[in-house]
Amino acid sequence: MALPSPQPVDPVAGLSIDTRLVRGGTRRSHNRETSEALYLTSGFVYPDAETAEAAFAGPEEGWIYTRFGNPTTAMLEDRLALLEGAPAVRATATGMAAVFAALMASVKAGDRVVASRALFGSCHYVVSRILPRFGVETRLVDPGDLDQWRDALRPGAAAVLFETPSNPMIDLVDIAAVAELGHAAGARVIVDNVFATAIEQRPLAHGADVVVYSATKHIDGQGRCLGGAVLGDARFVVEDLQPFLRHTGPTLSPFNAWVFLKGLETLGLRMERHARSAGRIAGFLAEHPKVLDVRYPRLESHPQHAIARRQMRRGGAMLAVTLAGGKAAAFRFANALRLADISPNLGDAKTLIAHPATTTHANVAPEERARLGISDGTLRLSVGLEDADDLLADMEQALAVC
Ligand SMILES: Cc1ncc(COP(=O)(O)O)c(C=O)c1O
Repeated sequence: MALPSPQPVDPVAGLSIDTRLVRGGTRRSHNRETSEALYLTSGFVYPDAETAEAAFAGPEEGWIYTRFGNPTTAMLEDRLALLEGAPAVRATATGMAAVFAALMASVKAGDRVVASRALFGSCHYVVSRILPRFGVETRLVDPGDLDQWRDALRPGAAAVLFETPSNPMIDLVDIAAVAELGHAAGARVIVDNVFATAIEQRPLAHGADVVVYSATKHIDGQGRCLGGAVLGDARFVVEDLQPFLRHTGPTLSPFNAWVFLKGLETLGLRMERHARSAGRIAGFLAEHPKVLDVRYPRLESHPQHAIARRQMRRGGAMLAVTLAGGKAAAFRFANALRLADISPNLGDAKTLIAHPATTTHANVAPEERARLGISDGTLRLSVGLEDADDLLADMEQALAVC
C-alpha cells in the first residue's frame, strides 16, 4: 500500500496551540501559495509505468488515488494530529463514518463492545442495532456509573465507546477512570470528542486510545461541509484503520478538507466566544422559573461538575435545557426565538436549537430516551457567535411566550 511520503518534523510542532491551528501541517507547493493548496483531483499521474509500479508497491512513493490519500486532506490530518497530540490521523467523509470506521477497525465477530448509553442517535443505532447483526455483543451502561462500567467490562471487551459531554444531555464520563477499566479489560478506548472539541478537552492525555470527530461541527464552524476524523496511535491507524477506509471508501472530499483547514485556523478564537456566551446563557436559563433543568458542564448544579473541572478547560458551546411546560412549551420557545435556527446541526457560528425527542433521538426507544433524561420538554442549544446580550434578550422574549 502506498502511503504519502513521511514529512519532515513540522516546524510548529512545539509551539502553542493557536500557532499550530493556523500553521500546522501546511505544505507549500512550488507555487508558494499563502493559503493551503486545494488538490481537487480524484487521481494522480506518473511519468512512466515504472513510477506507477513503484507508487503501488509503496509504502513511500507518492500519491495514487484520493480514496487512498490526497495532499490537501493530508494537510488537514497533520494539523489535527498536531492539535490533538495524536501520532496518526485519518479523515473521513462524515463524523458517522469516523465512529463506524473506528469501531469496525477494532472488532470482529464474537467480540464485545461496551458503550455509554448516552450517545448521539446514530452512534446509538450503530452500537445497539448494527454491530449485533455481525456477531458483536454490545453492552450499554450509564455514563457516570463506574460500577456499571466495571461490571460490563469484567468479562473483557474489544472496544469501549463514549461521548463526553454527551449529545444531547451533556452527561460526562470520567475519561481516566473508564480508560483504566477499559485497558484492564483489553479494550481499545474510543472517545467521541465532538461536543468538547480538542480546544476544551484532550481525551488522549487522559488515557483514551482513539478520538473521533464530526468535523461537520466546530471544526468547520460555519455549517458548510460534512466530514470526520479518527485520531490514534500509528499502529492502529496504519494497520487497522487505513485498510478499512481504503477498501470501503468513506473518503473525505479534498474540497471539504480545505474548508476544514480554514475552519481550524479560527477554532481557538471561536471556542473562546462560544464558551463565554454559553456559560452566560446557561446561568440565565438556570434561574428562570419556566425552566426545570439546565445541563452545562461548568454550571455548579451539573451533577458531574467535578469531572468537568478535571478534564475540560471550559464548558464548550452546547447545553441542554428542559422546560417545565413539556413539548408544547419547548416548541413554542423554539418557534419564538429570532436568533436561533431550528436545525439538527451544531457547532455553527449561528445559534441552533433542536428538540431531540422528535429529531436527533427520535429513533431511540421512548424508554431508553427517558432513561437518558431526554424528556419532551428538552431542547439542545448550540450557542453561536452572535452577541451574547442579543442572545439573552432573545431567550427572555421567547420564554415570556412559552
Ligand atoms: C456526538 C456526535 N457524534 C457523531 C456525529 C455524526 O456526525 P456527522 O453528522 O458528521 O456524521 C454527531 C452529529 O451530530 C454527533 O453529535
